[in-house]
Amino acid sequence: MAIQLFTNIKFLVNTREKNQLLRGTALAELPVIENAWLEIEDGVIERYGHMDELKSVSHRLSSIIDTKGASVLPCWCDSHTHIVYASSREEEFVDKIKGLSYAEIAAKGGGILNSAKKLDAMSEDELFNIAWKRLDEVSNQGTGAIEIKSGYGLSVESELKMLRVIKKLKEKSSLLIKSTFLGAHAYPPEYKENHRGYIDLIIKEMLPVIAKEKLADYIDVFCETGFFSPEETETICRAGMSYGLKPKIHANQLNLSGGVETGVKLEALSVDHLETMDDAAIKALAGSGTIGTLLPTAAFFLRMPFPPARKLIDAGCAIAIASDFNPGSSPSGNMNLVVAMSCVQMKMLPEEAINAATINGAYAMELQNEAGSITVGKKANLIFTKHIPAITYLPYSFGSNLIDKVMINGDFIPPSPKGEI
Ligand code: NIG
Ligand code: FE
Repeated sequence: MAIQLFTNIKFLVNTREKNQLLRGTALAELPVIENAWLEIEDGVIERYGHMDELKSVSHRLSSIIDTKGASVLPCWCDSHTHIVYASSREEEFVDKIKGLSYAEIAAKGGGILNSAKKLDAMSEDELFNIAWKRLDEVSNQGTGAIEIKSGYGLSVESELKMLRVIKKLKEKSSLLIKSTFLGAHAYPPEYKENHRGYIDLIIKEMLPVIAKEKLADYIDVFCETGFFSPEETETICRAGMSYGLKPKIHANQLNLSGGVETGVKLEALSVDHLETMDDAAIKALAGSGTIGTLLPTAAFFLRMPFPPARKLIDAGCAIAIASDFNPGSSPSGNMNLVVAMSCVQMKMLPEEAINAATINGAYAMELQNEAGSITVGKKANLIFTKHIPAITYLPYSFGSNLIDKVMINGDFIPPSPKGEI
């Protein structure tokens, strides 16, 4: 049995005895122990406290590590990503700079359909290898739990290929991973005029295999004007729910799509994006158990108005923040940047952003018993920082890498190999 004791921790961040999904003013309450110690046994958080109270050192200890004033946080819980994709789309980035909108790029065959074409041509092994590198990159940036979606397949074969890649990532990686089936990400060209045909394909051909092979934990639909209507979203989600897949929905990104109300009606685990919200959508979300997941780097990259985080929090919604790592609208999975951008652009307090990226993110993946806080019995998935004068320094000094080491299940992970993308 390996027991490690870490001493002289400057700030031990998000120490909680009990789990709670945070909403309203509770989101700004970030429990911190200043000058702390932490004990880990077999990769699990065992005990922690203030240095003054560290009286007896157990003789069973395998190692005592003086952190010399590092701060320790629970790893980021990134509850919305699309990291399985074949290749980047920097040509669309240039189109966007020249003035084309996200919807215009999608309409001319770019966007999701462009990614689907590229993914179709790639083997499962190749896809796994590049997704593995992205997983390695984000874990070095402090992510310890992550949700990954399909949705660049859009055919029975390719959607299953993506989900099998995610399943393999789950098996091989020490990160906590959840898998979401997003077959309803866009209508493939051959079904443009035959929505019912594609929905039937999802319900009759994809879902039964996904359920049989246990390929997904959740079901997602891109509920958006020009993509899937609220009615279509409900039909697809209900079919997924009949196999035990809870909905996590792309809602209200580009328009008042009705996605939030649909998600609330279906008791979705989360509704994600929320750039375009009106009072009715805010009220519906605030009165529900559904989490609102905000993706500020996607709004930034698409030059869209940011989600109204302040209004949502003040109305009592439970808010998480995530990266949306994908080749079209957020080619970054850096949660440190997501936290900083939430503070700068959405006026979230640093405490709110850190809670939204840890404990509430864990809830948005139903991983609150394993991740998201410094709690006895949770996994030792931890960020060890360089010296920081205050916790607020983390989002303040955006762009600086303040992470010294990342620990997953009690082991420090090796840095990413150099020279590879
Ligand atoms: O979450 N909004 C829909 N899906 C992704 C983007 C997909 C893409 O452009 O490849 C998102 O932003
Ligand atoms: Fe997304």
